Amino acid sequence: MKRIGMLTSGGDCQALNAAMRGVVKCLSCSGEDVEIYGFLDGYKGLIYGDFRMLTGQDFAGILTKGGTILGSSRTPFKLMREPDENGLDKVEAMKQNYYKLKLDCMVILGGNGTHKTANMLREEGLNVITLPKTIDNDLWGTDMTFGFQSAVDIATDCIDCIHTTASSHGRIFIVEVMGHKVGWLTLNAGMAGGADIILIPEIPYDIDKVIKAINEREARGSRFTIMAVAEGAISKEDAKLSKKELKEKMKNYPYPSVSYEIADKIQKKSGKEVRVTVPGHTQRGGSPCPYDRVFATRLGAEAGRLILQGEYGFMVGYKNREIVRVPLEEVAGKLKMVSPDATIVQEAKMVGISFGD
Ligand code: F6P
Repeated sequence: MKRIGMLTSGGDCQALNAAMRGVVKCLSCSGEDVEIYGFLDGYKGLIYGDFRMLTGQDFAGILTKGGTILGSSRTPFKLMREPDENGLDKVEAMKQNYYKLKLDCMVILGGNGTHKTANMLREEGLNVITLPKTIDNDLWGTDMTFGFQSAVDIATDCIDCIHTTASSHGRIFIVEVMGHKVGWLTLNAGMAGGADIILIPEIPYDIDKVIKAINEREARGSRFTIMAVAEGAISKEDAKLSKKELKEKMKNYPYPSVSYEIADKIQKKSGKEVRVTVPGHTQRGGSPCPYDRVFATRLGAEAGRLILQGEYGFMVGYKNREIVRVPLEEVAGKLKMVSPDATIVQEAKMVGISFGD
């Protein structure tokens, strides 16, 4: 008999349900007797003992369902060691609940912050297996996270739609793509949608170079320009600011997001009108794409196999087209960013995409 706890933490994404279903299907197909305890709303459920016992039935029909049947929440890692408002030691509470239910293992699905806490729980002696979720694809130790490809599809659809109206009206459009710290989603959706300019956090932009790229397009006879801009796109000047200075600037920030700032700068400097479209959380919503369904199922199956073998302390990831196990301590606390020298960036530049650098 195996007693497994499960939780989904952080911003949700497509294929969380598909991944959990993969774990449970693998375990039940092995013939092993399994009890599944689903903790609700991320680590909160584990801290406060808020769980539901789940059966195979709960996982039926959820392969294609977006969101997470367990609910999710953000529980910042830096607050984990701080007592809650009633003085509760959260780490101790999580351990107590784990031991009270006599769990063999926790299966934790999440992104960067989630992995820091998962690794802390491992260090505290709990058996943990994690699965890499995030539309940002910024988890260290895996070439791919589930949710990413579905989000690329949605952001690309948005750019495609903007393309037709931009070409009718001969306008400059910014499509703001999710990603505060990393630009994988913007880069991929931008390339897939044929964006002319892509701005990502890892490659600070110079607004004059951005305007130059627009002017050059116009000089070549293009009536419109499509820009894919990451939520965390940053100018060269701002990239030089210290964290404190940047925080100070953001206090009196007059724009809803960076795209509006960039649009305003272009308009003021060039007199050209710029429209902004923000697909926002639609990028995390709806059904997982077929790629993510397959991928999440494969990751889930491998997690099930590790549980059956009693091998813990790993994230199940993807490297060089193989499903792999990666020690949690190697993953926690590291971001997988786009290198400005990455071949994909060079290739984008080779086909004329400007990064404003
Ligand atoms: O989970 C990742 C992510 O979707 C980022 O791409 C985005 O910047 C952030 O979460 C948005 O967070 P929230 O849903 O808390 O507004």
